[in-house]
Amino acid sequence: MLRVYARILRVTAKEVTAAGAAPALHMKQMTVSDEFERFQTGAAKYAAYMETPEGQLRLDLAFGNLQEFLPQDTAHLFALDIGGGTGALAVRLARLGYHVTLLDASVPMLDFAKRAAQEAGVTERIASKQGDAAQLESLFDGGSFDLILCHNILEYVDDPSAVLRAAARGLRNSSSVISILVRNRGGEVLKAAIKDGDLATAEQNLTAERGHESLYGGSLRLFTAETLKAMLLESSLTVIAERGLRVVSDYLPSKISRHDHYERILELERKLGRRPEFAAVARYTQCLAHRASPDGATRS
Ligand SMILES: C[S@@+](CC[C@H](N)C(=O)[O-])C[C@H]1O[C@@H](n2cnc3c(N)ncnc32)[C@H](O)[C@@H]1O
Repeated sequence: MLRVYARILRVTAKEVTAAGAAPALHMKQMTVSDEFERFQTGAAKYAAYMETPEGQLRLDLAFGNLQEFLPQDTAHLFALDIGGGTGALAVRLARLGYHVTLLDASVPMLDFAKRAAQEAGVTERIASKQGDAAQLESLFDGGSFDLILCHNILEYVDDPSAVLRAAARGLRNSSSVISILVRNRGGEVLKAAIKDGDLATAEQNLTAERGHESLYGGSLRLFTAETLKAMLLESSLTVIAERGLRVVSDYLPSKISRHDHYERILELERKLGRRPEFAAVARYTQCLAHRASPDGATRS
């Protein structure tokens, strides 16, 4: 455990330096201990966020997108949730019959996940593992998983391409699915302008490599669909679907209750997220992919 924390501290020290070298970002500088604490003492904060309509929408949309590509019979299949956090998706997969391994560096996050598994009655189908995503290859044998989730973790790791390459090697075969979800730079532009009324940041975000982490303060890596797809290609992954998550829901006027109109908002977001012109400015981008076949042919 200490080895993981020590590595995270080294990594975040580098990222803090990189973020500090971009004065145009106007964001709170993260100290190494801030980064370290984010998912340790901040686990309860994250769990509370997951209960908000925004957190639920991201979860429901991501799961809906994923379900389209899951096989009918999932009873004997194995899934790995990298940086699985509070276990919300792991529980849903376990309910479908998957045997899920939830990997996370944060013990408090894993504690939340264990409680969620107990409450859902799926403890026998979820194995929690404390560890660093950068060590995937030494933690798991290659070709072990039918499904791999990589949701909202590439924003925080030192080398997202390396994590993706290792994840790709973890897929069992060319029918296995990997789902990657990341913070979309286009959404940060709209959020700064519409939600925060901060036109300067909106303009800077057009080209920013890092954005503001509103839950914890500090910064995180931003992606565009293009940068993500280039990483997937480089990891020998073939994209089978690309979706945007939360296109308009963050900016609805207060007269529209997020609780009362949740289903209508979800339905609208489902439709918007499938259309490239709207997905381009969503808060999150989700790509679903298969391992590329050796001859380079893409699966339909
Ligand atoms: C933003 S949360 C996302 C949680 C979950 N995947 C979701 O979509 O709700 C990021 C998670 O990644 C974990 N994490 C961050 N860096 C990690 C690393 N290097 N190795 C393993 N887990 C890490 C954090 O502890 C946290 O639980």
